[in-house]
Formats: sequence, C-alpha cells, structure tokens
Amino acid sequence: MEIRIFKDIEKLNVEAAKYFIETIQKEKNPVLGLATGSTPIGMYKELIKSYQQGEISFVNTTTYNLDEYVGLDATHEQSYRYFMTENLFKHVNINPDNTHVPNGLGDSEKSCREYNQLLDDTQIDIQILGIGSNGHIAFNEPGTPFSAVTHVVNLTETSISDNSRFFESIDEVPKQAITMGLSNIMKAKKIILIALGENKAEAIRKLVQEDPNENTPCTILKNHPNVVILLDHAASSKLI
Ligand code: F6R
Repeated sequence: MEIRIFKDIEKLNVEAAKYFIETIQKEKNPVLGLATGSTPIGMYKELIKSYQQGEISFVNTTTYNLDEYVGLDATHEQSYRYFMTENLFKHVNINPDNTHVPNGLGDSEKSCREYNQLLDDTQIDIQILGIGSNGHIAFNEPGTPFSAVTHVVNLTETSISDNSRFFESIDEVPKQAITMGLSNIMKAKKIILIALGENKAEAIRKLVQEDPNENTPCTILKNHPNVVILLDHAASSKLI
C-alpha cells in the first residue's frame, strides 16, 4: 500500500486523475471502477478537463459503479446513476450503454445476480474508492465478510447519518443499497483510495495500523498488491 499525503486538494485530485488518464491512454478497452459521494468529484472534474483538452477519449471505455440506493430511479437527484451522469458521463464521449450502475429498482436479488455476472465476465483495470467514517468501502459495512460479492445491504445508522447531508431530511435517506462486495472490489488490477477531511482520520488510522479484519472493511486492501492511498492533511492526522 503506497500512501501519499497532500497539502493541496487540487493537486491530490490531479494526481488521482493521472492514474486514470494513464489507464485510459494505455488500454485498448479500459475498464474503470467508479464511486460516488463527495470524494471523487474533484477527480472527475480533472478527467473532464483532460477529455476537453483532447488527451483522452472515453469511446472505448466501460465503467462499473460500486453501488446504488434501493428504491431510487435514475431520475432521482440522489440516485448514484444521476450523480454519475451529472458529474462525469454527460461531459465526456462515453457510450451510456457502456456505463453500469447496479439497478436499485425492482427485484434487488436479481439485480445483484446480474451485476455479479457482469463483474465475473470482466476485470476492472483501475478502481476509485472513497471511505466511510466507519471504514466502509462501497457499502460494505463493518462485519461484512471479505468473501462478499454484490449484495443488498441494510445501511448502518452512521452511513445513513453521513449521507443525510444530501437529502432534505434524514427520513428520506434510503435504508438499503446494492453494493459490490469486497471480493468483487479486490479483483481490480489497481485501486486508488482517496480520503479527505478530519472525519475520515480514524478510518485511515485503522486502515494503516490494523491487520486485515472484517470489523474494519477497508483493511482488506492490505491484501491487494496494487493500492495507492491519497490523503489530505486532515485525513492523515491520526497517523502520526
Ligand atoms: C460511494 C461509496 C461510499 C463512499 C463513502 C465516502 O460510491 O461507495 O463508500 O465512497 O461513503 O463518501 P463521501 O465521499 O461522500 O465522503
């Protein structure tokens, strides 16, 4: 696990985007693993800039998102499909048919099976991750088996409360999500995790100091051969 700490968040975003730009330039058919939430927005802006400057094209790129709320359709402003359209897809030349987000509507178990099948048939070249204040990655909450594949999850009170900032009231936050499992995530060739802000410092401390254990899902990343962790000063504040 390589850890890089940045004073300047803009620079962190540029560096995070560089890993993706390199992959998109190098691979004939790049496969990107994408995340939502506030953390990757700055990196997506850098990717859009790079596309606008003619450095990269998304024409042969396929994407897989980590998760989606159960019960929100693509037009709901808090759905993760909507988030991806607004923050990346509509700004670049990606074919919408090549973008995959778990389907939060209808039969969730069927959606999970279909998503696992898609993930079994491919390999993600590079995966971006944020991290929850409780150490979750995607929506693999504390206690999730490392062997988990895509599944329906009951969100913890911590995750519901963390995400309530995006909704008008906490009651509107969905209580369930469909998430890639930890074992799906570990199949990616390379993983970039970004953590920003003081409220991620404890999760980052655990990631660095604990041995892999299922109570702190992010610690599974220690078993992966190619992980880069990008931190701002606040998120790294409990490391020293
Ligand atoms: C998002 C996701 C979550 C977030 C995490 C951090 O697709 O899977 O694990 O990465 O909850 O969220 P933010 O970035 O909003 O702090």
